[in-house]
Amino acid sequence: MNKPKVAIIGAGKMGEAIIAGLLKSGEYSSRDIQAVEVVESRRQYINQTYKVKCLSDVKKAANFGDIVLLAVKPSVVGKVLEQIGPLLKRGKVLVSIAAGVTLEFMRKFLSEQVPIVRVMPNIACSVREAMVTFCPTSNITEEELATVTNMLSLLGRVMRLDEKYLNLATGLVGSGPAYIYLIIDALADAGVRLGLPKDVSITLAAQTTLGAAKMVVETGEHPVKLKDKVATPAGTTVEGLLELERGGLRATIISAVSKAAERARGLSPA
Ligand SMILES: NC(=O)c1ccc[n+]([C@@H]2O[C@H](COP(=O)([O-])OP(=O)(O)OC[C@H]3O[C@@H](n4cnc5c(N)ncnc54)[C@H](OP(=O)(O)O)[C@@H]3O)[C@@H](O)[C@H]2O)c1
Repeated sequence: MNKPKVAIIGAGKMGEAIIAGLLKSGEYSSRDIQAVEVVESRRQYINQTYKVKCLSDVKKAANFGDIVLLAVKPSVVGKVLEQIGPLLKRGKVLVSIAAGVTLEFMRKFLSEQVPIVRVMPNIACSVREAMVTFCPTSNITEEELATVTNMLSLLGRVMRLDEKYLNLATGLVGSGPAYIYLIIDALADAGVRLGLPKDVSITLAAQTTLGAAKMVVETGEHPVKLKDKVATPAGTTVEGLLELERGGLRATIISAVSKAAERARGLSPA
């Protein structure tokens, strides 16, 4: 398997983000991807927007894909696997991004020879800047693992984790963009309060967020060290930091991620 064909079962928000990311990478063309959707209007949308064949027949797509990627809601995973499980033979890899759905649960529907990779990405797949965490079953060969990680790395940064950490990754990686969007919107509202137009303010807030994140990723410096570089003694930033501490920003974020991770554990259909 060099460049595997990818069948994406469920072309909702995440399925679409993955299609967009793979096509933007330039490594994939529309012919290398097929999708499956239940709603006719959605099938037409995917077909017209991405020129990707979008079918209603999940079995056809499962036959097409070397990688069969489940992007349906966690509660639907069992139903889909009942249909396609018998079609997945040695040489194909099942990839699932369904929150909370364990490798053990999916294993029950598949032959022992078919490897499974449980993945937790986020919506930034669409701009190829996702954090993509994953855990494979032990029966995966090195070649199959390389093929899957190469495909996933077109969508952002990949990191292999023990399965026990994947629910935690759901709270942080999967849900994380929503928390950051809220923070960007709050920063932008602050700009509006001070008299800036909202669109200008959103650009200032978003680019500031992007730059700050890039500093952490590229320098490898601890975020607290970077924060200390911005906050000069008796300066303006430290006044703002005091307000964030008073408002319990850190405690609130820690508890939000913990709640989301707990919820992911509760989504397993097993
Ligand atoms: N949203 C995120 O940021 C995020 C991040 C990481 C992981 N995930 C995981 O990604 C998965 C998809 O989430 P999402 O946000 O993309 O949800 P979504 O927008 O609801 O997408 C799921 C899609 O699958 C379709 N579908 C349902 N049953 C199907 C079937 N039998 N065959 C083919 N397609 C079917 C749905 O159609 P209908 O609308 O008609 O039901 C829907 O379009 C979930 O398991 C979630 O846990 C999501």
